[in-house]
Amino acid sequence: MGRKFFVGGNWKMNGDKESIDKIIDFLKAGPLDPNCDVVVGVPAPYLMYCRERLPENVGVAAQNCHKAAKGAFTGEIAAAMIKDCGCKWVILGHSERRNVAFALENGLHIIPCIGEKLEEREAGKTEEVCFKQLKAIADKVSDWSRVVLAYEPVWAIGTGKTATPEQAQETHAALRKWLSENVSPEVAENLRILYGGSVTAANCKELAKCADIDGSLVGGASLKPEFVEIINASQ
Ligand code: PGA
Repeated sequence: MGRKFFVGGNWKMNGDKESIDKIIDFLKAGPLDPNCDVVVGVPAPYLMYCRERLPENVGVAAQNCHKAAKGAFTGEIAAAMIKDCGCKWVILGHSERRNVAFALENGLHIIPCIGEKLEEREAGKTEEVCFKQLKAIADKVSDWSRVVLAYEPVWAIGTGKTATPEQAQETHAALRKWLSENVSPEVAENLRILYGGSVTAANCKELAKCADIDGSLVGGASLKPEFVEIINASQ
């Protein structure tokens, strides 16, 4: 399989310099699988702090960015600011399609997130919901080499309820098929699709074994030393 394993950490609204230093220490100590791309999503005030201290082989992402170049948008951050801080990546929520276009136009690499809610899964609407979200993203993307897609079922995020490898693989395969039919077979073959939602050191290996799961986007566990095990899950 040609797709390089990819693990993203999403720190969300966690961390201060003291705890971030500890994360930087365990990421430096690793050792990290050289066959895995690693990117951590840090809170905006720490973008530059983290970029200056993390090793080169760990990318830094902002957790969101606005859909305009600059202006009167209190509290928002611009794609250009992220790049100016030396960071290449941004995580984007699925409903914010215009941000997708804007971030790409501004040269960032993006990790857009999609996923169904529990009631949608129970109603058998998982694929319908995810395809709709994926279409909204696909409509805005021309250069897929700067995209890593994250499938994160909403019911699995921060809940300790991981999708089973079978459930995740089934959805990942469906997403890849949709891409093949609606974008191109090449994009479907090359795009990395991450699973996110309560990934831990205990379940990462089973998930990594699935043919269409190319890595993970990790929230809670990315703050702990077990993140190194998750990075190395495909070894
Ligand atoms: P979690 O978060 O790993 O804490 O469930 C995942 C995410 O939201 O990216």
